[in-house]
Amino acid sequence: MKLYDVYPLFDINIVKGKGCHVWDDQGTEYLDLYGGHAVISIGHAHPHYVEAISRQVGTLGFYSNSVINTLQQQLAERLGRLCGYEDYALFLINSGAEANENALKLASFYNGRTRIISFQKAFHGRTSLAVEATDNPKIIAPINANNHITYLPLNDIEAVKQELAKGDVCAVIIEGIQGVGGIKLPSDEFLQAVRQACDEQNTVLILDEIQSGYGRSGRFFAHQYSGIRPDIITVAKGIGNGFPMGGVLISPKFTPVYGQLGTTFGGNHLACSAALAVLDVMEEERLIENAERVGNYLLEELKKFTQIKEVRGRGLMIGMEFAEPIKEIRLRLLKEQHVFTGVSGTHVIRLLPPLCLSMAEAEEFLKRFKVALG
Ligand SMILES: Cc1ncc(COP(=O)(O)O)c(C=O)c1O
Repeated sequence: MKLYDVYPLFDINIVKGKGCHVWDDQGTEYLDLYGGHAVISIGHAHPHYVEAISRQVGTLGFYSNSVINTLQQQLAERLGRLCGYEDYALFLINSGAEANENALKLASFYNGRTRIISFQKAFHGRTSLAVEATDNPKIIAPINANNHITYLPLNDIEAVKQELAKGDVCAVIIEGIQGVGGIKLPSDEFLQAVRQACDEQNTVLILDEIQSGYGRSGRFFAHQYSGIRPDIITVAKGIGNGFPMGGVLISPKFTPVYGQLGTTFGGNHLACSAALAVLDVMEEERLIENAERVGNYLLEELKKFTQIKEVRGRGLMIGMEFAEPIKEIRLRLLKEQHVFTGVSGTHVIRLLPPLCLSMAEAEEFLKRFKVALG
C-alpha cells in the first residue's frame, strides 16, 4: 500500500527535535519558526514532557470515558485557572475540527437553530460542519455543502448586526486571529460589538482559539485583548505539544446532558498527561510572557524590512505579506538558510514558532531571513 497523496511534500525527512530546532536524517539542523503548524508550544522533546508521557504510558495509557479519570479533572482545574475561565466546563476530544464540530453542535442543542455566521477566509477544520464553516470551496465536498453558513467580511459589524437581527442565527464562529486566512486580526471593538449583538439575539459566540490560543498571542487567548468572554472557546494544537488533543471550554449557561456529546479517545490518560506537562512547562518557564516579549521584538524588527508590504500579528503568531509571491523566498529560507516557516496563500509567510523561542533564536532568524531576502 502507498500513502494517499494529498500533501505536497518538501523532500526533507525530519527525525529529531529539541526546543526550537529540528534535524533531518542527514544531520542538518533547522530553526523551527513553524512549530509543525503552530502545534509545538513548549518546544520539541522537552524533558519534563518526555518524562511525564513515558511514565504515564508505562502505568496506564488508556481507559474509556466510563470511569473516573482524575487526570481529566486536574487538567480542567489547572487549565481553568491559568486561562481565566475557572467557571467554564471542559470537554476533551482529539483535534481542532472535532472541537469546532462539538462547539457548533452544542450551540444548536442550546437554541435549536441551524444557521451559522462565519467569516471570509476563515478556517475551522475539515469535518462536516467545521469544513462548511471554512471559507474555502475547494475543500467543501458536495455532501458538506448544506447551506448552514453565511460568510461575512471580518470587522464589518454592520453586516453581522444585520444578519443577527433576523433572529435565526444559531452561532457566530470566529478565530481569535485568523491563521490559515493570513494572520488577520478581528479588532477589539469588533469582538466587543459582536459579543453584544449575540447577547441581544440569544446567538452563541464561539471563539476558535485553536491556532491563536494557548499563549501564542502573548495572552492565554487572543480574544482576551478585547476583554470579551465567549460562550464557547475551542482549543487544540498547542494543548498537547504534538500529542493529538482538542478541548471545548463551555460557559456555565450550558447544562450538560448525559450522552449528548461523547468520544472514545478524547481525554484519555496519555493525552491528559501530555496536556498537564504542557501546563507545567508553560507556567514554570513563563512561556506566555516569553511569547509576548519575543513576539513583540520580532514584530518590531520585521516592520523595518522595506521588502515586506505588511507585518501583522500578536505575540508569536506573525504574518508577513509581500507584494510579490513568496514561494522563492520561503524555499531559500528552508533550503539555504535552514529555517522552517509557514505560508498563507501565495503572498503571506507565517511564523508560528514554539513559545519558548529565545531572543537569541529570534535574532538568528532575522539574520537568516535578511540573507534569504537577498
Ligand atoms: C483556527 C483553526 N481551527 C481549526 C483547525 C483544525 O484543526 P485540526 O487540524 O486539528 O482538525 C485549524 C488547523 O489548522 C485551525 O487553524
